[in-house]
Amino acid sequence: MFSHLIALASFALVSTSEVITDRGVAGPPLELVHLYNDQWPTGITVSRDGRMFSNYPPGLDTNNTNDGSNGKYTVAELIGNGSERPYPNAEINNPPGGSINYSTYPPSGANYQNYLIGVQSVVLDPLDRLWILDTGRALTPNGTLVPGSYGGPKLVGVTLSNDSVIRTIVFPPTVAYATSYLNDIRFDLRPHITSSGGGVAYITDSSSEGRNGIIIVDLGTGESWRHLDGIPEVRGERGFAPYVWGVPLYYIPGPGQPVSYAPLGSDGIAISLDGEELYWGPVGGRYLYSIPTARLRDRSPVSETLAQAAVMNRGQRGVSDGFETDTNGFIYAGNMEQNGILLYNPANGTTTTFVRDPRINWVDTMSVASDGYLYFTVNQLCFTSGFYPGTDRRQRPFALFRAKLPDDGTRASLQ
Ligand SMILES: *[C@@H]1O[C@H](CO)[C@@H](O)[C@H](O)[C@H]1NC(C)=O
Ligand SMILES: *[C@@H]1O[C@H](CO)[C@@H](O)[C@H](O)[C@H]1NC(C)=O
Ligand SMILES: *[C@@H]1O[C@H](CO)[C@@H](O)[C@H](O)[C@H]1NC(C)=O
Ligand SMILES: *[C@@H]1O[C@H](CO)[C@@H](O)[C@H](O)[C@H]1NC(C)=O
Ligand SMILES: *[C@@H]1O[C@H](CO)[C@@H](O)[C@H](O)[C@H]1NC(C)=O
Ligand SMILES: *[C@@H]1O[C@H](CO)[C@@H](O)[C@H](O)[C@H]1NC(C)=O
Repeated sequence: MFSHLIALASFALVSTSEVITDRGVAGPPLELVHLYNDQWPTGITVSRDGRMFSNYPPGLDTNNTNDGSNGKYTVAELIGNGSERPYPNAEINNPPGGSINYSTYPPSGANYQNYLIGVQSVVLDPLDRLWILDTGRALTPNGTLVPGSYGGPKLVGVTLSNDSVIRTIVFPPTVAYATSYLNDIRFDLRPHITSSGGGVAYITDSSSEGRNGIIIVDLGTGESWRHLDGIPEVRGERGFAPYVWGVPLYYIPGPGQPVSYAPLGSDGIAISLDGEELYWGPVGGRYLYSIPTARLRDRSPVSETLAQAAVMNRGQRGVSDGFETDTNGFIYAGNMEQNGILLYNPANGTTTTFVRDPRINWVDTMSVASDGYLYFTVNQLCFTSGFYPGTDRRQRPFALFRAKLPDDGTRASLQ
């Protein structure tokens, strides 16, 4: 008996000292830029002179309310030392009566064109104009995501020089369906790509209700249209369960509903350095997809069949939310199952680890800044009540990190 115990103890000593271990870190060190102590963020965008903006979607967190009186916000400027202020002002962040219209059955998103309802992304374009992407949707207190109403889903442009709204593009219900979730956006302002000369925006519809696709906006005319509607490459894969920090993520579609797989569609989006290719990926899948941007701008009678035929599968990237591009031409994407961020190099068709760090969980949106760093939010979305077991396991603060880009990479600019 005694000798048996001794044998076990010495066996344990040998195994701990001689077995190699995953270091868990790779790439440039993460620098902590901002701690979110108040509302729960998804997006980040950094201007040329270093101003930073985030958004806080009420469509994913019942506590991100803007009920018209509580002084909360769905878009803010980060003003240092863990503080944020409503952006571009408090008024536009507080729709009268709140973001939800309870006079309809079922309740729906408020239809205000001049107020922000539920913002999922904020992105600066190559001219440093801030574009606010409003889903028009929010959660009721019991966690039901209400459908959008015309006026809610929209794109709002703000000039940083005087913090004023300069443009509002409202999406028609044939472009933003009531169940659409306008997730992320990227800009190409090269004049020659449209007859209007005003440039183009590309938007992912990540709707968990399943009608996913890519939305294209002519920023000159304000017209918008969809392509790749509902094809498998924009949808979550059947039976898909991503893992973060060793835990499989099963999805809870709403209060009282049975647990399901992660049905999250096209989310991260990035344009190639030359503007000719658009990359995206569903959260409910590990593949990286792309399409020549000309196929998306085409609105001819055969433009949809040609677009579907032109979709390319670029191999596996892991599970990610936001994407970004730098002047190296690399496409960055989160790889949250590996606590990291990867880069895809179109020149060799492969992915490579950019950074790994145990502090990384759900890598949400990214922003390549003019200072040569990749900024990204790490927001614990995987620990929200939207995933099994349905309890909120997040712990404040939520984090904004940055990491130095390889080979002196910096912000790309299509104009
Ligand atoms: C959400 O708000 C409620 C009520 O104020 C609070 O009890 C809860 O801790 C909040 N949840 C999170 C994750 O902040
Ligand atoms: C930052 O905030 C903390 C806590 O509110 C405060 O004690 C500290 O003085 C602030 N620091 C600066 C530089 O404003
Ligand atoms: C709420 O819904 C009613 C009925 O459709 C509509 O008349 C009203 O304009 C809506 N209000 C808001 C703020 O959405
Ligand atoms: C803010 O600046 C924009 C762009 O320069 C200009 O068009 C607009 O009139 C200004 N708005 C206000 C309120 O000053
Ligand atoms: C959740 O709240 C909505 C809006 O108030 C209501 O219509 C729905 O019946 C509620 N669902 C559950 C399961 O309680
Ligand atoms: C592809 O390019 C990346 C970035 O330069 C590099 O790190 C990686 O090793 C390359 N992969 C292959 C298989 O050549």
